[in-house]
Amino acid sequence: MTTPKIITIDGPSGAGKGTVAYRLAEYFGFELLDSGALYRIVGLMAFKNGLLDGTDIDEQKVAKLTKSLNLSFRPNTATKTVEILVDNTPLTDDIRNEIVGGYASRVALLPSVRTALFDLQKNMAKDRAGLVADGRDMGTVIFPDASVKVFLTASAKARADRRVLQLQMAGKVADYEAILADIIERDERDENRAVAPSRPAVDALVIDSSDKSVDVVFDEILTFAQGKL
Ligand code: DC
Repeated sequence: MTTPKIITIDGPSGAGKGTVAYRLAEYFGFELLDSGALYRIVGLMAFKNGLLDGTDIDEQKVAKLTKSLNLSFRPNTATKTVEILVDNTPLTDDIRNEIVGGYASRVALLPSVRTALFDLQKNMAKDRAGLVADGRDMGTVIFPDASVKVFLTASAKARADRRVLQLQMAGKVADYEAILADIIERDERDENRAVAPSRPAVDALVIDSSDKSVDVVFDEILTFAQGKL
């Protein structure tokens, strides 16, 4: 059995992790793990089940719900995204918005929820030639032995600018100040939580993409990965 080659891309939302991870997976022919999507689904389901109503969250109930979800992934080559299947059915809810991002960040604080998602993430690398895993703790907790680790960040302002542009391109209304405040609040929660906080692994290449195009970031990672895979 050969050991799978693993590339981890960690960092905050909006730094460009998803796009770069997809391109790397395509380039190397590796599997792709979007771990943020898992937390987003758990967050959305917890909300739908009334588990995020108050400020105090019942950790055991959310963990039980997490374990009951039958989640899997399927690449969609047309849209260049990875579809998430819940009970083998593609998820139709929009999970890529600020509200669900907030739910995800809240359930991600809970150690039992993180434990409940551990095996699913770890198993994504099993029997594969390679895996590109994007999230917050891919290089520090889930795949500490990964050959290539990257921490991709960008200033909160640059990320808010990108999000506003993205929403405008989709014909949606974008409130810059609200988006920026939301990004800052979520960073604060993700970076300062007790378990698996968002931070670069000691052996990670840290890239600030504030003033860099996706092509430039992609090339920097390829150069770094050369010889390590
Ligand atoms: O990458 P994203 O924006 O889709 O992630 C949504 C939230 O999920 C993020 O605010 C923190 C959490 N998350 C996490 O705690 N650990 C991961 N590996 C991925 C995401």
